[in-house]
Amino acid sequence: MAAIRALTSSHSSLTLTLLASSSIFTNFRSISHLDITSISITKPLLSCSSRNIRMAHAVAKATLGLTNPAQINHPKITFAAKETDLLQWKGDILAVGVTEKDMTKGENSKFQNPILEKLDSKLGGLLSEVATEEDFTGKAGQSTVIRVADLGPKRVSLIGLGKATGPTTTGFHVFGESVASVAKASQANNVAIALASSEGLTSELKLATASAIAKGTLLGSYEDNRFKSEAKKPFLKSVDFFGLGTGPELAKKFKYTEDVCSGVILGKELVNAPANVLTPEVLAAEAEKIAAAYSDVFTAKILDTEQCKELKMGSYLGVAAASTNPPKFIHLCYKPPSGSVKTKLALVGKGLTFDSGGYNIKTGPGCSIELMKFDMGGSAAVLGAAKALGQIKPSGVEVHFIVAACENMISGTGMRPGDILTASNGKTIEVNNTDAEGRLTLADALVYACNQGVDKIVDLATLTGACVVALGPSIAGIFTPSDELSKEVVAASEVAGEKLWRLPMEESYWESMKSGVADMVNTGGRQGGSITAALFLKQFVDEKVQWLHIDMAGPVWNDKKKAATGFAIPTLVEWVLSNSSS
Ligand code: BES
Ligand code: MN
Ligand code: ZN
Repeated sequence: MAAIRALTSSHSSLTLTLLASSSIFTNFRSISHLDITSISITKPLLSCSSRNIRMAHAVAKATLGLTNPAQINHPKITFAAKETDLLQWKGDILAVGVTEKDMTKGENSKFQNPILEKLDSKLGGLLSEVATEEDFTGKAGQSTVIRVADLGPKRVSLIGLGKATGPTTTGFHVFGESVASVAKASQANNVAIALASSEGLTSELKLATASAIAKGTLLGSYEDNRFKSEAKKPFLKSVDFFGLGTGPELAKKFKYTEDVCSGVILGKELVNAPANVLTPEVLAAEAEKIAAAYSDVFTAKILDTEQCKELKMGSYLGVAAASTNPPKFIHLCYKPPSGSVKTKLALVGKGLTFDSGGYNIKTGPGCSIELMKFDMGGSAAVLGAAKALGQIKPSGVEVHFIVAACENMISGTGMRPGDILTASNGKTIEVNNTDAEGRLTLADALVYACNQGVDKIVDLATLTGACVVALGPSIAGIFTPSDELSKEVVAASEVAGEKLWRLPMEESYWESMKSGVADMVNTGGRQGGSITAALFLKQFVDEKVQWLHIDMAGPVWNDKKKAATGFAIPTLVEWVLSNSSS
Protein backbone atom coordinates (compact mmCIF):
# COMPACT_ATOMS: atom_id res chain seq x y z
CA MET A 1 0.00 0.00 0.00
CA ALA A 2 2.85 2.33 0.89
CA ALA A 3 4.39 1.63 -2.47
CA ILE A 4 1.19 2.43 -4.29
CA ARG A 5 0.78 5.71 -2.50
CA ALA A 6 4.42 6.48 -3.18
CA LEU A 7 3.87 5.95 -6.90
CA THR A 8 1.31 8.68 -7.07
CA SER A 9 3.24 11.06 -4.83
CA SER A 10 5.96 11.38 -7.45
CA HIS A 11 8.96 12.89 -5.62
CA SER A 12 12.11 12.25 -3.64
CA SER A 13 14.62 9.58 -2.88
CA LEU A 14 12.26 8.21 -0.29
CA THR A 15 9.81 7.32 -3.03
CA LEU A 16 12.27 5.17 -4.85
CA THR A 17 13.57 3.57 -1.70
CA LEU A 18 10.06 2.49 -0.89
CA LEU A 19 9.55 1.20 -4.38
CA ALA A 20 12.79 -0.69 -4.38
CA SER A 21 11.67 -2.76 -1.48
CA SER A 22 8.36 -3.64 -3.09
CA SER A 23 7.43 -6.19 -5.71
CA ILE A 24 6.07 -3.40 -7.91
CA PHE A 25 9.62 -2.28 -8.46
CA THR A 26 10.63 -5.64 -9.87
CA ASN A 27 7.60 -5.65 -12.13
CA PHE A 28 8.31 -2.16 -13.23
CA ARG A 29 11.84 -3.10 -14.04
CA SER A 30 11.06 -6.21 -16.00
CA ILE A 31 8.27 -4.61 -18.00
CA SER A 32 10.28 -1.60 -19.05
CA HIS A 33 13.14 -3.63 -20.59
CA LEU A 34 15.42 -0.79 -19.72
CA ASP A 35 18.54 -0.52 -17.72
CA ILE A 36 17.30 1.68 -14.95
CA THR A 37 20.17 0.91 -12.60
CA SER A 38 21.87 4.06 -13.78
CA ILE A 39 18.97 6.27 -12.70
CA SER A 40 19.87 8.29 -9.66
CA ILE A 41 17.51 7.59 -6.81
CA THR A 42 17.59 11.21 -5.77
CA LYS A 43 15.77 12.25 -8.93
CA PRO A 44 12.01 12.70 -8.88
CA LEU A 45 10.12 9.69 -10.13
CA LEU A 46 8.56 11.68 -12.93
CA SER A 47 11.87 12.52 -14.44
CA CYS A 48 12.90 8.87 -14.10
CA SER A 49 10.01 7.79 -16.23
CA SER A 50 10.61 10.46 -18.82
CA ARG A 51 14.21 9.40 -18.93
CA ASN A 52 13.07 5.81 -19.43
CA ILE A 53 11.05 6.99 -22.37
CA ARG A 54 14.03 8.81 -23.81
CA MET A 55 16.25 5.77 -23.46
CA ALA A 56 13.67 3.49 -24.98
CA HIS A 57 13.40 5.98 -27.76
CA ALA A 58 17.05 5.45 -28.50
CA VAL A 59 16.17 1.93 -29.61
CA ALA A 60 12.89 2.79 -31.28
CA LYS A 61 14.52 4.52 -34.22
CA ALA A 62 13.21 4.83 -37.74
CA THR A 63 15.83 2.33 -38.91
CA LEU A 64 14.50 -0.51 -36.75
CA GLY A 65 15.37 -3.77 -38.53
CA LEU A 66 18.06 -1.92 -40.49
CA THR A 67 15.52 -1.07 -43.15
CA ASN A 68 15.93 2.17 -44.99
CA PRO A 69 14.22 3.05 -48.24
CA ALA A 70 16.46 3.07 -51.27
CA GLN A 71 16.97 6.47 -52.85
CA ILE A 72 15.11 6.45 -56.13
CA ASN A 73 15.25 9.01 -58.85
CA HIS A 74 11.74 9.08 -60.16
CA PRO A 75 11.64 8.48 -63.91
CA LYS A 76 10.74 11.57 -65.82
CA ILE A 77 8.19 11.03 -68.56
CA THR A 78 7.88 13.74 -71.18
CA PHE A 79 4.43 14.44 -72.53
CA ALA A 80 4.06 16.14 -75.89
CA ALA A 81 1.25 16.90 -78.32
CA LYS A 82 1.81 16.07 -81.98
CA GLU A 83 0.02 17.19 -85.11
CA THR A 84 1.95 15.17 -87.63
CA ASP A 85 0.57 12.11 -89.43
CA LEU A 86 0.02 9.34 -86.92
CA LEU A 87 1.39 6.71 -89.30
CA GLN A 88 4.64 8.62 -89.74
CA TRP A 89 5.35 8.49 -86.01
CA LYS A 90 8.46 6.51 -85.09
CA GLY A 91 8.76 4.77 -81.74
CA ASP A 92 8.09 1.65 -79.70
CA ILE A 93 4.30 1.48 -79.40
CA LEU A 94 1.38 3.21 -81.01
CA ALA A 95 -1.53 2.76 -78.59
CA VAL A 96 -5.01 3.42 -79.95
CA GLY A 97 -8.01 3.73 -77.67
CA VAL A 98 -11.09 2.20 -79.28
CA THR A 99 -14.73 2.03 -78.22
CA GLU A 100 -16.95 -0.93 -79.09
CA LYS A 101 -18.55 1.24 -81.78
CA ASP A 102 -15.13 1.99 -83.33
CA MET A 103 -14.62 -1.74 -83.78
CA THR A 104 -17.69 -2.26 -85.96
CA LYS A 105 -17.12 -3.19 -89.57
CA GLY A 106 -19.02 -2.31 -92.73
CA GLU A 107 -20.43 -4.68 -95.33
CA ASN A 108 -17.03 -4.83 -97.02
CA SER A 109 -15.68 -6.21 -93.64
CA LYS A 110 -13.57 -3.11 -93.31
CA PHE A 111 -13.46 -0.87 -90.25
CA GLN A 112 -15.90 2.02 -90.55
CA ASN A 113 -13.69 4.13 -88.33
CA PRO A 114 -11.31 6.04 -90.63
CA ILE A 115 -8.26 5.84 -88.34
CA LEU A 116 -8.61 2.10 -87.82
CA GLU A 117 -9.30 1.54 -91.51
CA LYS A 118 -6.21 3.49 -92.54
CA LEU A 119 -4.04 1.63 -90.03
CA ASP A 120 -5.49 -1.72 -91.02
CA SER A 121 -4.92 -1.23 -94.73
CA LYS A 122 -1.35 -0.10 -94.04
CA LEU A 123 -0.90 -3.37 -92.15
CA GLY A 124 -2.48 -5.45 -94.90
CA GLY A 125 -5.54 -6.37 -92.82
CA LEU A 126 -3.50 -7.66 -89.88
CA LEU A 127 -5.33 -5.51 -87.33
CA SER A 128 -8.71 -6.80 -88.38
CA GLU A 129 -7.43 -10.39 -88.41
CA VAL A 130 -5.95 -10.20 -84.92
CA ALA A 131 -9.09 -8.53 -83.53
CA THR A 132 -11.23 -11.38 -84.86
CA GLU A 133 -8.82 -14.10 -83.68
CA GLU A 134 -8.55 -12.64 -80.18
CA ASP A 135 -12.22 -11.64 -79.99
CA PHE A 136 -11.17 -8.06 -79.34
CA THR A 137 -14.34 -5.98 -79.41
CA GLY A 138 -13.24 -2.78 -77.65
CA LYS A 139 -14.69 -3.67 -74.25
CA ALA A 140 -13.17 -1.72 -71.37
CA GLY A 141 -10.13 -3.56 -70.03
CA GLN A 142 -9.38 -5.45 -73.28
CA SER A 143 -6.05 -4.91 -74.99
CA THR A 144 -4.03 -6.43 -77.78
CA VAL A 145 -0.51 -5.80 -79.05
CA ILE A 146 0.87 -6.61 -82.51
CA ARG A 147 4.53 -6.53 -83.49
CA VAL A 148 4.71 -4.99 -86.94
CA ALA A 149 7.40 -4.55 -89.56
CA ASP A 150 7.89 -1.71 -92.03
CA LEU A 151 5.89 0.85 -90.07
CA GLY A 152 7.02 3.82 -87.92
CA PRO A 153 5.97 2.18 -84.65
CA LYS A 154 7.42 -1.23 -83.73
CA ARG A 155 4.17 -2.29 -82.15
CA VAL A 156 0.54 -1.32 -82.53
CA SER A 157 -1.77 -1.78 -79.60
CA LEU A 158 -5.55 -1.54 -79.45
CA ILE A 159 -6.97 -0.77 -76.03
CA GLY A 160 -10.68 -1.08 -75.23
CA LEU A 161 -12.59 1.95 -73.95
CA GLY A 162 -15.96 0.25 -73.66
CA LYS A 163 -19.29 1.65 -74.82
CA ALA A 164 -19.55 4.26 -77.53
CA THR A 165 -20.67 7.08 -75.22
CA GLY A 166 -17.03 7.51 -74.30
CA PRO A 167 -15.46 7.04 -70.92
CA THR A 168 -15.49 9.37 -67.95
CA THR A 169 -12.35 10.84 -66.37
CA THR A 170 -11.96 7.57 -64.46
CA GLY A 171 -12.35 5.63 -67.72
CA PHE A 172 -9.51 7.58 -69.31
CA HIS A 173 -7.34 7.00 -66.21
CA VAL A 174 -7.88 3.30 -66.67
CA PHE A 175 -7.00 3.66 -70.36
CA GLY A 176 -3.75 5.44 -69.38
CA GLU A 177 -2.98 2.65 -66.92
CA SER A 178 -3.51 0.08 -69.67
CA VAL A 179 -1.11 2.01 -71.91
CA ALA A 180 1.45 1.85 -69.09
CA SER A 181 1.04 -1.90 -68.63
CA VAL A 182 1.28 -2.57 -72.37
CA ALA A 183 4.42 -0.40 -72.43
CA LYS A 184 5.83 -2.27 -69.45
CA ALA A 185 5.24 -5.67 -71.04
CA SER A 186 7.43 -4.74 -74.00
CA GLN A 187 9.76 -2.42 -72.07
CA ALA A 188 8.83 0.43 -74.38
CA ASN A 189 10.61 3.78 -74.02
CA ASN A 190 8.35 5.81 -76.26
CA VAL A 191 4.66 5.57 -76.80
CA ALA A 192 2.20 7.40 -79.03
CA ILE A 193 -1.41 7.67 -77.90
CA ALA A 194 -4.44 8.32 -80.08
CA LEU A 195 -8.17 7.79 -79.78
CA ALA A 196 -9.92 6.24 -82.77
CA SER A 197 -12.70 8.82 -82.27
CA SER A 198 -11.51 12.13 -80.93
CA GLU A 199 -12.85 14.27 -83.77
CA GLY A 200 -16.08 15.37 -82.15
CA LEU A 201 -14.60 16.43 -78.82
CA THR A 202 -14.71 20.07 -77.75
CA SER A 203 -11.32 21.60 -77.04
CA GLU A 204 -12.14 21.65 -73.33
CA LEU A 205 -12.96 17.94 -73.37
CA LYS A 206 -9.78 17.23 -75.32
CA LEU A 207 -7.74 18.90 -72.58
CA ALA A 208 -9.50 16.96 -69.83
CA THR A 209 -9.12 13.70 -71.76
CA ALA A 210 -5.42 14.19 -72.48
CA SER A 211 -4.82 15.07 -68.85
CA ALA A 212 -6.71 12.03 -67.53
CA ILE A 213 -4.83 9.71 -69.90
CA ALA A 214 -1.48 11.29 -68.99
CA LYS A 215 -2.24 10.85 -65.31
CA GLY A 216 -3.17 7.19 -65.75
CA THR A 217 -0.05 6.54 -67.82
CA LEU A 218 2.28 8.29 -65.38
CA LEU A 219 0.87 6.72 -62.25
CA GLY A 220 0.43 3.35 -63.98
CA SER A 221 4.11 3.18 -64.86
CA TYR A 222 5.18 4.12 -61.33
CA GLU A 223 6.27 1.28 -59.07
CA ASP A 224 7.38 1.68 -55.49
CA ASN A 225 10.53 -0.45 -55.35
CA ARG A 226 12.23 1.38 -52.49
CA PHE A 227 12.09 -1.65 -50.24
CA LYS A 228 13.04 -4.29 -52.80
CA SER A 229 16.64 -5.41 -52.82
CA GLU A 230 16.81 -5.36 -56.60
CA ALA A 231 15.97 -2.08 -58.28
CA LYS A 232 13.96 -2.37 -61.49
CA LYS A 233 14.86 -0.02 -64.23
CA PRO A 234 12.18 2.44 -65.34
CA PHE A 235 11.06 2.06 -68.92
CA LEU A 236 8.74 4.79 -70.22
CA LYS A 237 10.46 8.04 -71.23
CA SER A 238 8.15 9.85 -73.62
CA VAL A 239 4.47 9.88 -74.52
CA ASP A 240 3.22 11.67 -77.64
CA PHE A 241 -0.46 12.56 -77.94
CA PHE A 242 -2.26 12.69 -81.27
CA GLY A 243 -5.62 14.31 -81.95
CA LEU A 244 -6.14 15.81 -78.49
CA GLY A 245 -5.05 19.33 -79.27
CA THR A 246 -1.78 21.21 -79.12
CA GLY A 247 -0.47 24.52 -77.94
CA PRO A 248 0.19 26.27 -74.64
CA GLU A 249 -3.15 25.29 -73.04
CA LEU A 250 -2.32 21.62 -73.39
CA ALA A 251 1.28 22.14 -72.27
CA LYS A 252 -0.04 23.90 -69.17
CA LYS A 253 -2.43 21.02 -68.53
CA PHE A 254 0.39 18.46 -68.82
CA LYS A 255 2.48 20.47 -66.36
CA TYR A 256 -0.49 20.53 -63.95
CA THR A 257 -0.95 16.77 -64.36
CA GLU A 258 2.74 16.17 -63.60
CA ASP A 259 2.54 18.37 -60.49
CA VAL A 260 -0.51 16.52 -59.20
CA CYS A 261 1.11 13.14 -59.96
CA SER A 262 4.28 14.07 -58.09
CA GLY A 263 2.03 14.77 -55.08
CA VAL A 264 0.21 11.46 -55.56
CA ILE A 265 3.52 9.58 -55.73
CA LEU A 266 4.72 11.23 -52.53
CA GLY A 267 1.41 10.28 -50.89
CA LYS A 268 1.78 6.67 -52.03
CA GLU A 269 5.35 6.47 -50.77
CA LEU A 270 4.41 7.87 -47.37
CA VAL A 271 1.61 5.32 -46.98
CA ASN A 272 3.64 2.38 -48.34
CA ALA A 273 6.52 3.09 -45.95
CA PRO A 274 6.19 0.80 -42.92
CA ALA A 275 5.84 2.13 -39.40
CA ASN A 276 9.41 1.16 -38.48
CA VAL A 277 10.63 3.53 -41.18
CA LEU A 278 7.96 6.22 -41.21
CA THR A 279 7.72 7.37 -37.60
CA PRO A 280 6.03 10.63 -36.61
CA GLU A 281 9.49 12.24 -36.63
CA VAL A 282 10.18 11.05 -40.16
CA LEU A 283 6.76 12.26 -41.32
CA ALA A 284 7.55 15.67 -39.83
CA ALA A 285 10.92 15.67 -41.57
CA GLU A 286 9.16 14.91 -44.87
CA ALA A 287 6.85 17.87 -44.30
CA GLU A 288 9.85 20.09 -43.62
CA LYS A 289 11.43 18.88 -46.86
CA ILE A 290 8.36 20.05 -48.80
CA ALA A 291 8.56 23.45 -47.12
CA ALA A 292 12.27 23.70 -47.93
CA ALA A 293 11.80 22.65 -51.56
CA TYR A 294 9.15 25.35 -52.13
CA SER A 295 10.38 27.88 -49.61
CA ASP A 296 8.97 30.77 -51.67
CA VAL A 297 5.47 29.75 -50.64
CA PHE A 298 5.77 27.55 -47.53
CA THR A 299 6.69 27.93 -43.89
CA ALA A 300 6.88 24.93 -41.58
CA LYS A 301 6.27 24.62 -37.88
CA ILE A 302 6.77 21.34 -36.01
CA LEU A 303 5.54 21.18 -32.43
CA ASP A 304 7.01 18.68 -29.97
CA THR A 305 5.32 17.12 -26.95
CA GLU A 306 6.12 20.05 -24.67
CA GLN A 307 4.72 22.60 -27.10
CA CYS A 308 1.55 20.51 -27.57
CA LYS A 309 1.22 20.36 -23.78
CA GLU A 310 1.39 24.14 -23.64
CA LEU A 311 -1.47 24.24 -26.14
CA LYS A 312 -3.36 21.79 -23.86
CA MET A 313 -3.75 19.13 -26.54
CA GLY A 314 -4.66 16.45 -24.02
CA SER A 315 -6.72 14.42 -26.45
CA TYR A 316 -3.91 14.04 -29.00
CA LEU A 317 -1.25 13.51 -26.34
CA GLY A 318 -3.41 10.82 -24.71
CA VAL A 319 -3.11 8.75 -27.89
CA ALA A 320 0.62 9.40 -28.19
CA ALA A 321 1.33 8.53 -24.55
CA ALA A 322 2.11 4.83 -25.01
CA SER A 323 4.67 5.28 -27.72
CA THR A 324 8.43 5.53 -27.42
CA ASN A 325 8.44 7.35 -30.76
CA PRO A 326 7.47 10.89 -29.76
CA PRO A 327 4.51 12.66 -31.41
CA LYS A 328 5.08 15.50 -33.85
CA PHE A 329 2.44 18.12 -34.63
CA ILE A 330 2.98 19.28 -38.20
CA HIS A 331 1.84 22.65 -39.54
CA LEU A 332 2.78 23.87 -43.01
CA CYS A 333 1.48 27.21 -44.20
CA TYR A 334 1.12 28.07 -47.89
CA LYS A 335 0.96 31.72 -48.91
CA PRO A 336 0.77 32.78 -52.55
CA PRO A 337 3.98 34.24 -54.04
CA SER A 338 2.21 37.56 -54.70
CA GLY A 339 -1.14 39.31 -54.39
CA SER A 340 -3.64 39.37 -51.57
CA VAL A 341 -5.33 36.43 -49.88
CA LYS A 342 -9.09 36.15 -50.30
CA THR A 343 -9.78 32.74 -48.78
CA LYS A 344 -8.10 30.83 -45.99
CA LEU A 345 -8.31 27.06 -46.04
CA ALA A 346 -7.09 24.23 -43.84
CA LEU A 347 -6.42 20.62 -44.76
CA VAL A 348 -6.22 18.41 -41.69
CA GLY A 349 -5.04 14.80 -42.00
CA LYS A 350 -5.12 11.88 -39.57
CA GLY A 351 -1.50 10.88 -39.08
CA LEU A 352 -1.34 7.61 -37.14
CA THR A 353 1.93 6.11 -38.36
CA PHE A 354 0.71 2.89 -36.74
CA ASP A 355 -2.57 1.94 -35.08
CA SER A 356 -2.32 -1.16 -32.91
CA GLY A 357 -5.64 -0.30 -31.31
CA GLY A 358 -3.94 0.36 -27.98
CA TYR A 359 -5.34 -1.61 -25.01
CA ASN A 360 -8.37 -2.33 -27.19
CA ILE A 361 -5.84 -4.08 -29.37
CA LYS A 362 -6.83 -5.08 -32.88
CA THR A 363 -7.27 -8.86 -32.78
CA GLY A 364 -9.00 -11.50 -34.82
CA PRO A 365 -9.27 -12.11 -38.55
CA GLY A 366 -10.15 -9.08 -40.62
CA CYS A 367 -8.88 -6.53 -38.11
CA SER A 368 -6.02 -5.75 -40.57
CA ILE A 369 -3.53 -4.82 -37.84
CA GLU A 370 -0.69 -5.65 -40.26
CA LEU A 371 -1.97 -2.93 -42.62
CA MET A 372 -2.25 -0.22 -40.00
CA LYS A 373 0.80 1.59 -41.34
CA PHE A 374 -1.78 3.07 -43.73
CA ASP A 375 -3.51 4.85 -40.85
CA MET A 376 -1.63 8.01 -41.79
CA GLY A 377 -3.32 8.06 -45.22
CA GLY A 378 -5.12 11.31 -44.39
CA SER A 379 -1.84 13.01 -43.59
CA ALA A 380 -0.27 11.59 -46.75
CA ALA A 381 -3.12 13.17 -48.73
CA VAL A 382 -2.52 16.50 -47.02
CA LEU A 383 1.24 16.44 -47.63
CA GLY A 384 0.87 15.12 -51.18
CA ALA A 385 -1.48 18.03 -51.92
CA ALA A 386 1.03 20.41 -50.30
CA LYS A 387 3.78 19.18 -52.60
CA ALA A 388 1.61 19.59 -55.70
CA LEU A 389 0.44 23.06 -54.64
CA GLY A 390 4.03 24.10 -53.90
CA GLN A 391 4.65 23.62 -57.61
CA ILE A 392 1.36 25.01 -58.92
CA LYS A 393 1.48 28.11 -56.65
CA PRO A 394 -2.16 29.26 -56.83
CA SER A 395 -2.93 32.86 -55.95
CA GLY A 396 -5.54 34.43 -53.68
CA VAL A 397 -5.60 31.51 -51.27
CA GLU A 398 -3.81 30.68 -48.02
CA VAL A 399 -3.68 27.01 -47.05
CA HIS A 400 -2.78 25.43 -43.72
CA PHE A 401 -1.69 21.78 -43.76
CA ILE A 402 -2.11 20.25 -40.33
CA VAL A 403 -1.24 16.81 -39.00
CA ALA A 404 -1.20 15.62 -35.39
CA ALA A 405 1.16 12.69 -36.02
CA CYS A 406 1.70 9.88 -33.53
CA GLU A 407 1.45 6.12 -33.00
CA ASN A 408 -1.28 4.23 -31.13
CA MET A 409 0.69 1.70 -29.11
CA ILE A 410 0.51 -0.20 -25.84
CA SER A 411 2.70 0.39 -22.81
CA GLY A 412 2.64 1.29 -19.14
CA THR A 413 2.46 4.95 -20.07
CA GLY A 414 -0.44 4.48 -22.45
CA MET A 415 -4.02 5.66 -21.99
CA ARG A 416 -6.38 3.07 -20.56
CA PRO A 417 -9.96 2.39 -21.52
CA GLY A 418 -11.97 4.57 -19.16
CA ASP A 419 -9.41 7.36 -18.95
CA ILE A 420 -10.70 10.90 -19.31
CA LEU A 421 -8.82 13.27 -21.62
CA THR A 422 -9.21 17.03 -21.94
CA ALA A 423 -8.93 18.47 -25.45
CA SER A 424 -7.53 21.91 -26.25
CA ASN A 425 -11.01 23.46 -26.46
CA GLY A 426 -11.61 22.37 -22.86
CA LYS A 427 -14.03 19.55 -23.68
CA THR A 428 -13.56 16.28 -21.78
CA ILE A 429 -13.65 12.83 -23.36
CA GLU A 430 -14.09 9.48 -21.66
CA VAL A 431 -12.08 7.03 -23.75
CA ASN A 432 -14.35 3.99 -23.83
CA ASN A 433 -12.29 2.49 -26.66
CA THR A 434 -8.59 3.19 -27.24
CA ASP A 435 -8.96 2.00 -30.85
CA ALA A 436 -11.06 5.05 -31.70
CA GLU A 437 -7.84 7.08 -31.53
CA GLY A 438 -7.97 8.91 -34.86
CA ARG A 439 -10.81 11.18 -33.73
CA LEU A 440 -8.89 11.96 -30.52
CA THR A 441 -5.91 13.23 -32.50
CA LEU A 442 -8.14 15.07 -34.97
CA ALA A 443 -10.00 16.80 -32.12
CA ASP A 444 -6.95 18.86 -31.17
CA ALA A 445 -5.88 19.27 -34.80
CA LEU A 446 -9.31 20.72 -35.68
CA VAL A 447 -9.24 23.12 -32.72
CA TYR A 448 -5.78 24.23 -33.85
CA ALA A 449 -7.00 24.67 -37.46
CA CYS A 450 -9.91 26.85 -36.31
CA ASN A 451 -7.45 28.98 -34.32
CA GLN A 452 -5.65 29.80 -37.60
CA GLY A 453 -8.68 31.89 -38.59
CA VAL A 454 -9.54 29.80 -41.63
CA ASP A 455 -12.83 30.02 -43.56
CA LYS A 456 -13.05 26.35 -44.52
CA ILE A 457 -11.59 23.07 -43.28
CA VAL A 458 -11.44 19.71 -45.02
CA ASP A 459 -10.21 16.86 -42.85
CA LEU A 460 -9.21 13.45 -44.15
CA ALA A 461 -8.92 10.28 -42.12
CA THR A 462 -8.83 6.51 -42.31
CA LEU A 463 -11.34 6.83 -39.52
CA THR A 464 -13.74 3.91 -39.40
CA GLY A 465 -14.00 0.31 -40.57
CA ALA A 466 -17.74 1.03 -40.66
CA CYS A 467 -17.22 3.34 -43.64
CA VAL A 468 -15.55 0.51 -45.57
CA VAL A 469 -18.53 -1.72 -44.75
CA ALA A 470 -20.94 0.98 -45.95
CA LEU A 471 -19.22 2.16 -49.14
CA GLY A 472 -16.70 -0.57 -50.00
CA PRO A 473 -13.06 -0.16 -50.91
CA SER A 474 -13.16 2.56 -53.56
CA ILE A 475 -15.61 5.21 -52.33
CA ALA A 476 -14.89 7.64 -49.50
CA GLY A 477 -17.62 8.92 -47.21
CA ILE A 478 -18.04 12.67 -46.74
CA PHE A 479 -19.78 14.39 -43.86
CA THR A 480 -20.54 18.08 -43.54
CA PRO A 481 -23.23 20.40 -42.19
CA SER A 482 -22.59 22.65 -45.20
CA ASP A 483 -24.39 21.92 -48.49
CA GLU A 484 -22.23 24.56 -50.13
CA LEU A 485 -18.91 22.98 -49.12
CA SER A 486 -20.24 19.56 -50.02
CA LYS A 487 -20.98 20.82 -53.56
CA GLU A 488 -17.51 22.37 -53.89
CA VAL A 489 -15.67 19.24 -52.82
CA VAL A 490 -17.85 16.87 -54.82
CA ALA A 491 -17.33 19.03 -57.93
CA ALA A 492 -13.56 18.89 -57.36
CA SER A 493 -13.68 15.11 -56.96
CA GLU A 494 -15.56 14.75 -60.25
CA VAL A 495 -12.91 16.69 -62.13
CA ALA A 496 -10.23 14.63 -60.38
CA GLY A 497 -11.96 11.32 -61.11
CA GLU A 498 -12.26 10.22 -57.47
CA LYS A 499 -15.38 8.86 -55.80
CA LEU A 500 -17.01 10.52 -52.78
CA TRP A 501 -20.45 9.89 -51.31
CA ARG A 502 -22.15 12.16 -48.79
CA LEU A 503 -23.50 10.50 -45.65
CA PRO A 504 -25.82 12.16 -43.12
CA MET A 505 -24.76 13.78 -39.85
CA GLU A 506 -27.77 12.50 -37.93
CA GLU A 507 -27.84 14.56 -34.75
CA SER A 508 -30.09 12.12 -32.87
CA TYR A 509 -27.23 9.57 -32.96
CA TRP A 510 -25.26 11.82 -30.61
CA GLU A 511 -27.31 10.18 -27.82
CA SER A 512 -24.97 7.16 -27.93
CA MET A 513 -21.94 9.41 -27.38
CA LYS A 514 -23.02 10.66 -23.96
CA SER A 515 -20.83 9.89 -20.96
CA GLY A 516 -21.82 9.59 -17.30
CA VAL A 517 -18.65 11.32 -16.14
CA ALA A 518 -17.27 13.43 -19.00
CA ASP A 519 -18.66 15.61 -21.81
CA MET A 520 -18.70 12.67 -24.20
CA VAL A 521 -17.34 9.20 -24.86
CA ASN A 522 -15.21 8.53 -27.93
CA THR A 523 -17.25 5.65 -29.40
CA GLY A 524 -20.95 5.03 -29.62
CA GLY A 525 -21.32 1.37 -30.48
CA ARG A 526 -21.42 -0.50 -33.77
CA GLN A 527 -24.44 1.11 -35.38
CA GLY A 528 -23.77 4.10 -37.63
CA GLY A 529 -20.13 4.07 -36.57
CA SER A 530 -18.94 6.48 -39.28
CA ILE A 531 -21.71 8.94 -38.46
CA THR A 532 -21.03 9.02 -34.71
CA ALA A 533 -17.33 9.48 -35.52
CA ALA A 534 -18.19 12.52 -37.67
CA LEU A 535 -20.48 13.88 -34.94
CA PHE A 536 -17.58 13.54 -32.51
CA LEU A 537 -15.28 15.59 -34.78
CA LYS A 538 -17.96 18.28 -35.05
CA GLN A 539 -17.53 18.96 -31.30
CA PHE A 540 -14.13 20.44 -32.06
CA VAL A 541 -15.02 22.67 -34.99
CA ASP A 542 -15.95 26.30 -34.57
CA GLU A 543 -19.51 26.80 -35.87
CA LYS A 544 -18.42 29.82 -37.91
CA VAL A 545 -16.03 27.67 -39.95
CA GLN A 546 -17.27 25.61 -42.89
CA TRP A 547 -16.05 22.06 -42.36
CA LEU A 548 -16.11 18.78 -44.28
CA HIS A 549 -14.81 15.41 -43.13
CA ILE A 550 -13.62 12.69 -45.55
CA ASP A 551 -13.52 9.11 -44.22
CA MET A 552 -11.11 7.40 -46.60
CA ALA A 553 -10.59 4.13 -44.69
CA GLY A 554 -11.57 2.16 -47.82
CA PRO A 555 -9.85 3.95 -50.71
CA VAL A 556 -6.49 4.55 -48.98
CA TRP A 557 -5.31 1.08 -49.94
CA ASN A 558 -5.56 -1.17 -53.00
CA ASP A 559 -5.85 -4.74 -51.74
CA LYS A 560 -5.21 -6.29 -55.16
CA LYS A 561 -2.06 -4.28 -55.80
CA LYS A 562 -1.07 -4.47 -52.11
CA ALA A 563 -0.19 -0.81 -52.32
CA ALA A 564 -1.29 2.68 -51.43
CA THR A 565 -3.52 4.59 -53.86
CA GLY A 566 -2.59 8.21 -53.15
CA PHE A 567 -6.34 8.79 -52.76
CA ALA A 568 -7.78 12.32 -52.39
CA ILE A 569 -4.68 14.24 -53.48
CA PRO A 570 -6.05 15.15 -56.95
CA THR A 571 -9.37 16.18 -55.36
CA LEU A 572 -7.70 18.35 -52.72
CA VAL A 573 -5.59 20.14 -55.32
CA GLU A 574 -8.67 20.77 -57.48
CA TRP A 575 -10.61 22.03 -54.47
CA VAL A 576 -7.86 24.46 -53.42
CA LEU A 577 -7.65 25.74 -57.03
CA SER A 578 -11.43 26.21 -57.12
CA ASN A 579 -10.96 28.54 -54.13
CA SER A 580 -8.06 30.42 -55.72
CA SER A 581 -8.10 33.34 -58.08
CA SER A 582 -5.95 31.82 -60.83
N1 BES B 1 -7.76 3.12 -38.23
C1 BES B 1 -8.99 2.55 -37.80
C2 BES B 1 -10.04 2.51 -38.89
C3 BES B 1 -9.82 1.50 -39.96
C4 BES B 1 -10.21 0.19 -39.78
C5 BES B 1 -9.30 1.88 -41.18
C6 BES B 1 -10.04 -0.72 -40.81
C7 BES B 1 -9.15 0.98 -42.20
C8 BES B 1 -9.52 -0.32 -42.01
C9 BES B 1 -9.56 3.36 -36.63
O1 BES B 1 -8.64 3.94 -35.80
C10 BES B 1 -10.33 2.40 -35.82
O2 BES B 1 -9.75 1.52 -35.26
N2 BES B 1 -11.64 2.59 -35.76
C11 BES B 1 -12.49 1.71 -35.06
C12 BES B 1 -13.54 2.54 -34.35
C13 BES B 1 -14.34 1.74 -33.35
C14 BES B 1 -13.47 1.36 -32.19
C15 BES B 1 -15.51 2.58 -32.92
C16 BES B 1 -13.14 0.75 -36.05
O3 BES B 1 -13.47 1.17 -37.15
O4 BES B 1 -13.25 -0.42 -35.73
MN1 MN C 1 -7.98 2.58 -34.27
ZN1 ZN D 1 -6.82 4.41 -36.62
